[in-house]
Amino acid sequence: DASDIEKGTYPHYMLKEIDEQPAVMRKIVQAYQNEEGELSIAKDTLDAVNASDRIYIIACGTSYHAGLVGKEYLEKTAKIPTEVHVASEFVYNTPLLSEKPLFIFISQSGETADSRAVLVHVKELGHPALTLTNVAGSTLSREANHTLLLHAGPEIAVASTKAYTAQIAVLAILAEAAGKAKGFEMKFDLIQEMGIVANAIQTLTDDKEAFEQIARDFLSTTPNAFFIGRSMDYHVVQEAALKLKEISYIQAEGFAGGELKHGTIALIEDGTPVVALATQENVNLSIRGNVKEVAARGASTCTISMKGLEEEGDSYVIPHVHELLAPLVSVVPTQLIAYYAALHRDCDVDKPRNLAKSVTVE
Ligand code: G6P
Repeated sequence: DASDIEKGTYPHYMLKEIDEQPAVMRKIVQAYQNEEGELSIAKDTLDAVNASDRIYIIACGTSYHAGLVGKEYLEKTAKIPTEVHVASEFVYNTPLLSEKPLFIFISQSGETADSRAVLVHVKELGHPALTLTNVAGSTLSREANHTLLLHAGPEIAVASTKAYTAQIAVLAILAEAAGKAKGFEMKFDLIQEMGIVANAIQTLTDDKEAFEQIARDFLSTTPNAFFIGRSMDYHVVQEAALKLKEISYIQAEGFAGGELKHGTIALIEDGTPVVALATQENVNLSIRGNVKEVAARGASTCTISMKGLEEEGDSYVIPHVHELLAPLVSVVPTQLIAYYAALHRDCDVDKPRNLAKSVTVE
């Protein structure tokens, strides 16, 4: 049938979509380049961003996790205070808003009811809204004042992969354009760095056996697993845990490395898998310390580090990319590990139980 054709030679959409990520990164850069070859965002959208005194990112699931990374860009590059909220919470417990808020809705489908409920509320209050979505003409796009498209191509697997990296890439471009418009000096060339990111992701997707092996070694029979990271890596481990839960049904949690000792470390037993990400220089020593803490309590540890920060005994070293863009790359091993863990446990990778691709009820 038609879906078989679309999947090509891939056994699952999820694997195909993971593999598409280098191409999606390049496509996004192209799509946002102007005639001079510079990254640019529509003027009315940029004006809305730069007129705001605080940005409220609203999203659900994987898109919420992309928002956590986006906040870093908007604050560090565009210097706009930014909050990230789960849509279903925001609706019933709206925080005190700033004077000139801008709402950014992140939604792959553009149809998520929880996010739409916030959009309706925000419009009633008269505040501007920008939607980042993969689907032109989707509800959240039509109803917002501004739209930025993800250009990721259709995402079919319920577990989101390429939409997550696309969302982060578009947020990086938005933050850079906003910062430049304000006259801030950019610390790096985003176009060039995105090219390095695309190549780095390609290296990882070409090395699938390594991640299949990690999944086999650490996750084939375990009832639970922990992911730890600090700073940017903390955002990514939350997504890593969600991915693993969604498709392999392994109970998983993504924790801030330093927070584990305040309670959750009680769950570490002999052989409990703990996957650590180590891509951020300023917290490298601290996350290494956290790995030692759990290892001393019997955990089976798997550290995925970035070139330049690696230590002997790391399970995998990803290619070096700019630290702020590391989430685009470090998430890929965790996607592949989740994929193979689900496969080894005979789970329905593309259609996990109880989940829908797009949830159109609140
Ligand atoms: C559903 C999907 C998730 C997705 C979330 C938000 O729960 O199963 O994978 O992250 O909705 O979807 P959206 O389309 O708004 O990004």
